[in-house]
Amino acid sequence: MCGIICYIGKQNSIPILMEGLKRLEYRGYDSAGLAAVNSKNKDFVFVKSVGKVNELEKKVKSQDGNCDYGIAHTRWATHGKPTEINAHPHTDCSGKLFIVHNGIIENYEILKSDLIEKGHKFVSDTDTEVLAHLIEENLDGSFEEAVRKALSLVEGTFGIAVIHKDFPRKIIVARRGSPIILGIGEDEYIAASDINAFIRYTNKVIYLNDNEMALLNDKNITITDLNLKEIAKEPETIEWDYTENEKSGFKHFMLKEIYEQPKTVENAIRGRLIEGEGISKLGGLEPVLDRILNLKRLTFVSCGTSFYAGLYGKYIFEMLTDLDVDVDYASEFRYRNLKLSEYDGVVAISQSGETADTLAALREAKRKGALVLGLVNVVGSTIAKETDAGVYCHAGPEIGVASTKIFVSQCVILNLIALLLGRRRGLSIFDGMNLIKEIKKLPENIKFVLDNGENIRGIAKKYLPFKNFLYIGRHLNFPIAMEGALKLKEISYVHAEGYPAGEMKHGPISLIDENFPTVAIATDGFTYEKMISNIQEIKARSGKVIAIATEGNKEIKEIVDDVIYVPKTIDILQPIINVIPLQLFAYYFADFKGRDIDKPRNLAKSVTVE
Ligand code: F6R
Repeated sequence: MCGIICYIGKQNSIPILMEGLKRLEYRGYDSAGLAAVNSKNKDFVFVKSVGKVNELEKKVKSQDGNCDYGIAHTRWATHGKPTEINAHPHTDCSGKLFIVHNGIIENYEILKSDLIEKGHKFVSDTDTEVLAHLIEENLDGSFEEAVRKALSLVEGTFGIAVIHKDFPRKIIVARRGSPIILGIGEDEYIAASDINAFIRYTNKVIYLNDNEMALLNDKNITITDLNLKEIAKEPETIEWDYTENEKSGFKHFMLKEIYEQPKTVENAIRGRLIEGEGISKLGGLEPVLDRILNLKRLTFVSCGTSFYAGLYGKYIFEMLTDLDVDVDYASEFRYRNLKLSEYDGVVAISQSGETADTLAALREAKRKGALVLGLVNVVGSTIAKETDAGVYCHAGPEIGVASTKIFVSQCVILNLIALLLGRRRGLSIFDGMNLIKEIKKLPENIKFVLDNGENIRGIAKKYLPFKNFLYIGRHLNFPIAMEGALKLKEISYVHAEGYPAGEMKHGPISLIDENFPTVAIATDGFTYEKMISNIQEIKARSGKVIAIATEGNKEIKEIVDDVIYVPKTIDILQPIINVIPLQLFAYYFADFKGRDIDKPRNLAKSVTVE
């Protein structure tokens, strides 16, 4: 949510900042801006624009500048509409200071009125501008000290980068709650909200922790706490396949990521399954294994698509372990008067590892004494760091804002964790071995669905005129119905509702007519007959039905309007295959509508506000 990048070094910073912004655009794309300085001739480039980064690029191209340092930002509006004035960088009264910010200054109104009384003039509606003036107000010789003082007065979250014309060749960055990662090059330094933004230039990184600052100049980086006490930190070397950041011939990152899923599953299970013993081995959980084995209850907390992975997790943990299992929206969990103890485990599921609601939920669980575990994709992210232990997805970067491959990865890994616990709590070796055998077949089963992409594309085209969709499924496929509906609505802007199929008759069925189609997940399994009854109820009311059904099922073809066939696996894994056609259906439907699929309106990939 908002992306920050800054550069100082021997190269012209502007192309590096622009490229970084493009890589960060998934974090927000309603406006963007850049401030950069040529320290030799004092030339200055300061540009802002409304809209996506390419709008900024057009403006930047018209400016001639060889600037050796600078800061830049792509915004997801929190305070104030996405206008040029509200775009970052923001400046102070002197016009010498420039700041970019990710996060929310919660006490900005009090600070603002205080600063107005002291004579400061504000031009924007943003909370960030307060920070610019607060630094100016506290500036008395030392730039670092002024930033430190200002930060000590703000409540809320921040990742910031700030420069000042009177303090050349210095960039100060700081974080509390919003990620800042430092990239260490040869006589050049970069800082950004995400490694993705600069991995092409260096893979040596230092993660800034909460309440840490760093001063970047052309010679070195000095890291301190917010009292300017120095902290020694060694860079880590990150393994990264740079081609993962490219579309590789696909029209959108989302489509590429959907087609990557056989590989995603392989990456999720590599080295983690011992088929002969019917067990899984998860190195990340080893340090707390004894505590895990003593747990009585497990609660999944997460948001959006990751929440639906948690909902799926609840069903499979109930099937494979003897634990009490619960799931909650991270944004709601914290309000519950839950009594948690050392016998409780709370699993935070998050693709980005930065989602503010999930972070708040895990902190609350920790405070109450629970063991806090993470299922995260982004290595070194805040959630990964704050959990007691966890498992990484190893799915590579997911650039499309709508999550696809990481959802699948989360679902697969939840099986591995459930297997780990289940086998120590009574699950038989036979059941363990069978589960592993079928998990290993997932890549080829997913590929089977992907190979049917053209057929799904045709069905998506046929349903383009419809403005509302119902998605239904039962038990393990209920979360998949929810996820299918979310995918469609978020990228096509068409209304879609996910529902447990059995609930349909308790209300939503009144929506059904010939203009309100239903996507019914009706693969073989113990809920199949009941799904067929629900489908018949819809057909009796002239509703159109697209069914996701098991390959070879001829009966269903006679009842519904369209069928998408998927290969059969065991009940517990079937949802992982069933979600693939729903991703493709949503993708093609949105593409026919000409939507900006990788950057749907109003959304951001990493939601760092509550
Ligand atoms: C939807 C989607 C979001 C995220 C949610 C949580 O396609 O991607 O619903 O799942 O914002 O994000 P993470 O998983 O990063 O915590």
